[in-house]
Amino acid sequence: MTIMTVPNQSEMESYWLPFTANRQFKANPRLFVGADGMYYTAADGQRILDGMAGLWCVNAGHNQRPIVEAIKHAAERLDYVSSFQMAHPLAFEAASRIASIAPAGMDHVFFANSGSEAVDTALKIARAYFRVKGEVGRTRFIGRAKGYHGMGWGGLSVAGIGRHRKDFGPLLPETDHLPHTLDLAHTAFSRGQPAWGAHLADELEALAQIHDPSSIAAVIIEPVTGSGGVLPPPQGYLERLRAICDRHGILLIFDEVITGFGRLGAPFAAQAFGVTPDLITCAKGMTNGAVPMGGVIAGDKVWNAFMAGPENMIELFHGYTYSGHPLACAASIATLDVYRDQDIFERAARTAPLWEAAAHALKGLPNVIDIRNIGLLAAIELAPRPDGGAVRAIEAANRCFDEGVLVRSAGDALVLSPPLVISDAEIERLFATIARVLKLLQ
Ligand SMILES: Cc1ncc(COP(=O)(O)O)c(C=O)c1O
Repeated sequence: MTIMTVPNQSEMESYWLPFTANRQFKANPRLFVGADGMYYTAADGQRILDGMAGLWCVNAGHNQRPIVEAIKHAAERLDYVSSFQMAHPLAFEAASRIASIAPAGMDHVFFANSGSEAVDTALKIARAYFRVKGEVGRTRFIGRAKGYHGMGWGGLSVAGIGRHRKDFGPLLPETDHLPHTLDLAHTAFSRGQPAWGAHLADELEALAQIHDPSSIAAVIIEPVTGSGGVLPPPQGYLERLRAICDRHGILLIFDEVITGFGRLGAPFAAQAFGVTPDLITCAKGMTNGAVPMGGVIAGDKVWNAFMAGPENMIELFHGYTYSGHPLACAASIATLDVYRDQDIFERAARTAPLWEAAAHALKGLPNVIDIRNIGLLAAIELAPRPDGGAVRAIEAANRCFDEGVLVRSAGDALVLSPPLVISDAEIERLFATIARVLKLLQ
């Protein structure tokens, strides 16, 4: 049995942390040793209110016993089996259960192990779909500015956050990007979907004309931009994008790695917004963060095209050693049970109005230039320092942490994405802490 001890400086040497200033971190490490419900326990014993659901993933709160027990049980029974030409019962069950809450007509699930793999899988399915259909010239992908689609080469190529792409080029050549939908002159302090901005979807028509519509395989967007700063789609925007894709035979991919599994009060954003894509990528909420897992949910049109060939042919030359891993499938089934039995999605929908009111109550505090929200997501945009000094949002997030509240920064915004089980009192504490910090921040 491993005892959880706090490493000293030399014991920290080998670990290369992702997306982290390693040397700075190790000089002053932020260590967690436990988690339960809405709280982390730090190594010094401090309880930290989790305003981020870990990393947008622990939707039902930490340490959900049914999930823990399911993982334990699965590990004892079947540690591993390949998913290439063999399977185990839990993989079928997990796929069926996910399909049962997916939008109508989206009934087929391909398993990966992360959001990044899910995105690269979806992009590959899109290209292979057009090969199968004989439209071999359809290879281009359209992403969107401020989009985040993970760290695989495909996801990075369609992503729209320059700093993430900068060190790694050249990326996939046949990509282009839609503009993002944030324009504070028109959208600042919108509650939910901004009224302004549906026309920005027409940029897809412009890109289609530049590149030739028959060269475009797929458009991939997050229905609500997440890591790029929580940008709900303008009213009518997704509908317009769907219509343009339909007009030109382009596949529409919703990257629902953040919005999937209840974040907007419905199982998927596709249902919350009433717009059905051809492929959905998902990951984070799939296992409540407990075991790595990702997936692509495919609509019948895509599935049927792959299933039209000879039955003895492998339809898709793609997969991962750990696709449909027994532990992940067990965790996923138990997670869906928890979501159902504890009314987690309905709870999120019920809590959303209070969440919105609490977020927008910060309007008028120093340097707050925008507040955005949808479902149980929010962002508080802070004015950049005129001298280009330290980013206020990073400083604010650090100070919140010192006060026992975990939030993240994304550019100049504080972003919030709590477990969907957050109570009214915890919402109050979360925003009261941010308010206190913002009043003190220069
Ligand atoms: C929309 C979206 N897609 C993909 C990813 C990548 O997921 P992962 O970090 O599991 O690879 C993320 C991660 O934050 C995400 O937010």
